[in-house]
Amino acid sequence: MRHHDVLVLGGSGFIGRYVVNLLVARGCRALVPSRRRDRAKHLILLPTCDVVEADIHDDAALERLVAGQDAVINLVGILHGRAADFERAHAELPRRLVAACAKHRVNRLLHVSALGAAADAPSMYLRSKAAGESHVRGSSLAWTIFRPSVVFGAEDNFLNLFAELARWFPVLPIGGANAKFQPVWVQDLARAICNSLDNGATYRKTYELAGPRIYTLRELVSFAARAAGHPRPVIALPEPIARLQARLMELLPGEPLLSRDNLDSMKVDNVASEQPYRPAPELGIRATPMEAEAALYLAGLNARARLAALRARARR
Ligand SMILES: NC(=O)c1ccc[n+]([C@@H]2O[C@H](COP(=O)([O-])OP(=O)(O)OC[C@H]3O[C@@H](n4cnc5c(N)ncnc54)[C@H](OP(=O)(O)O)[C@@H]3O)[C@@H](O)[C@H]2O)c1
Repeated sequence: MRHHDVLVLGGSGFIGRYVVNLLVARGCRALVPSRRRDRAKHLILLPTCDVVEADIHDDAALERLVAGQDAVINLVGILHGRAADFERAHAELPRRLVAACAKHRVNRLLHVSALGAAADAPSMYLRSKAAGESHVRGSSLAWTIFRPSVVFGAEDNFLNLFAELARWFPVLPIGGANAKFQPVWVQDLARAICNSLDNGATYRKTYELAGPRIYTLRELVSFAARAAGHPRPVIALPEPIARLQARLMELLPGEPLLSRDNLDSMKVDNVASEQPYRPAPELGIRATPMEAEAALYLAGLNARARLAALRARARR
């Protein structure tokens, strides 16, 4: 079945912008609610994308958004907060979304969770993601669940953050230095989601999304710093110091760079369960290596780093 009208919750975010752009390029109409319309201003000029201000935690508002759609993609997620915040965004919202879809006969739901989500996982983030998955999986909808490892791309908040820190600090002291990740390119993830939309072979399936290589956090931080043209020594902090550092960051105003819950998430490796990782054929993607793509945007305005990145990409 061709799904034309698609509600994209979380469409204003980092991954959402790629998903929405691809949907529009493929002739779909995307409806993107946001708590603040100006957060989605990069989508407003897209020809078949409607950005609306809405409170998706309100049942009536959510139902109005869902009614009349052919499919829903849920990308809402938070990295920091209290238990109640995680519960609301990752578990309650999917539960209410499933109910709204059933009520308004919107049968197709694509839900983005996270690699490592489990009821007994060490962090609130991963436990609440597991609760959300179980609401989706327990429904009678044609659902597909995506579980990405950490996602990299030009607007990511991960490699870019380390690159930025490297600009300002002579050494980079980090907690969870030995935690393992298998970064997936945002464009691969967006393609996997959009390729699945109309593909019945993906219904009622859960897919892990990862890149071709596993890295420790220390390797990733070091790579980001080098690619940005600011190579720096990376110092692994012992756990009690790392927790203290995270606690202090939580006390600062705004979103913390790192929270204790993030450290808890890193107690389990964020890598695909089968190695070497190969994306399922029905997703229609190949796992893109990180170095060449990421080096291009991390190099930013640094001419020498940018040239090296272009050379590396050409050799790929
Ligand atoms: N980025 C990664 O490395 C990564 C890895 C694994 C899984 N994921 C998952 O992939 C999904 C998308 O991630 P992302 O990196 O694109 O996130 P993002 O850039 O932070 O975007 C999050 C989106 O969710 C919406 N949102 C956040 N908190 C909300 C709340 N309390 N109520 C309503 N809407 C809220 C935001 O909408 P407005 O601010 O416009 O309202 C925004 O569109 C999330 O579920 C995330 O957990 C991401």
